[in-house]
Amino acid sequence: MPALSCQIGCNQMGKNDDMEISRRGFIGGVAALGAGGVSFAAMEVDAPKRVPSLIASAPVLQNAAERSMGVAFAVSADASGWVEISRSPDMGGARRVYSGGLGMMEVDDKLAQIRLRDLRPATRYWYRIGADRIEYKNGYRMKNLGSEVDGNIHSFTTLGAEASGSFCIINDTHDQKPALDLVLAKLAALKPSVVIWNGDALNKAEKMQKAIDVLITPHEKHPGYAADMPFMFLNGNHDFRGRFARHLERVWMFRDPAERGGRFAELGRNFVQRLGDVALIGLETGEDKPDDYPVFARIFQMDRYRDLQTEWLAEAVESPTVKTAKFKVAICHIPLFHPNWRDPKLPGGDGPVNGKCAAMTRPCAFRWRPLLEKAGIHLVVSGHTHRYVHYAPDVERAWSQIVGGGCAVHPGHETAFPSVVEGFVKGGSLVVRVHNCTDDKIVMERSFS
Ligand SMILES: [Fe+2]
Ligand SMILES: [Fe+2]
Repeated sequence: MPALSCQIGCNQMGKNDDMEISRRGFIGGVAALGAGGVSFAAMEVDAPKRVPSLIASAPVLQNAAERSMGVAFAVSADASGWVEISRSPDMGGARRVYSGGLGMMEVDDKLAQIRLRDLRPATRYWYRIGADRIEYKNGYRMKNLGSEVDGNIHSFTTLGAEASGSFCIINDTHDQKPALDLVLAKLAALKPSVVIWNGDALNKAEKMQKAIDVLITPHEKHPGYAADMPFMFLNGNHDFRGRFARHLERVWMFRDPAERGGRFAELGRNFVQRLGDVALIGLETGEDKPDDYPVFARIFQMDRYRDLQTEWLAEAVESPTVKTAKFKVAICHIPLFHPNWRDPKLPGGDGPVNGKCAAMTRPCAFRWRPLLEKAGIHLVVSGHTHRYVHYAPDVERAWSQIVGGGCAVHPGHETAFPSVVEGFVKGGSLVVRVHNCTDDKIVMERSFS
């Protein structure tokens, strides 16, 4: 993690560096700052007590968009997090935005989430994070003990039709550290404008801390993995599993409701966003088993979820954002094509991994393919099977289906490898590459025009 520094006088602290100060000294230090910036070094210190840094992770940019950006970071105690954002690298004219909505700010002892709004499309911003330490005893007894600031200044660029750069898609990392190391290192090298984490980041999440570990601090070698690289997130089937999975937005916030109309309010993950000439369309395929699957205890309604997304997609593909895009790319966890997907004997079949894959394709393929095909989709990028494959267009299908690899790290394996799917416009064509992160090779490159 990049070094943290604290506005109240403790310079260049690391994540695990604690402030060895007295309780009296800490509270006094905040008050002294307001009176003229007296540092801890000059204060009386007695009976040393370790106070962990309030900011406990680098920021994670969540939900890249034209006009908004989410920022999340871990905290070590009750805190109200905030972001200062500026159009200038020296943070001139910065405005501060607190976590939570209007009225009451959010106070949480694990995570701060801040939504930045009213941004300009295709515009670079600089930002830093901070948090107010809150001592909360009850609704009438609470104190704001002052701010701590991460001394690092980060930046991001919003999306939009005037934006440029590349997009990358990762999938099925399943909290496997060797795979995450390879994938995050490849992303750091490619420096895309936006990354879509296309599901199965988790195996299951029973507790909030698990989701924080996986999504906010996924690998100790890559502490600022999403501090300067905006991400989007789409659930895979595994991300729907576990008690806390029902509240995953408390760790990876839903997209800004302003992006969608009221009747689609529940579709917190779906997106249509432009990156230059490319329209990126995000869909959630849901669980990979039927709603009446015995172990699901009748507490899933994925078919209704898919139906609502179908209505949303019908409107999305008619929007100017999609209609005026030269290239159209859909991203969803479970593929929308499999060679046997229309096999009348389904479920079953004899696909390259196992017969279930063809059957899993059907619920979303029947709903969404007609709409995507009418819109002139060029490419669908998925995951789920943990085997890389590229289904090139054929006489019945004018679009490509790419399936990313999984989380197995076996040098020399031709399909089972952690992958990064990269796309960018060059010379009037959309160039798409699949990177094998184990062997650091490009295993597929195709141009769309
Ligand atoms: Fe998976
Ligand atoms: Fe999956």
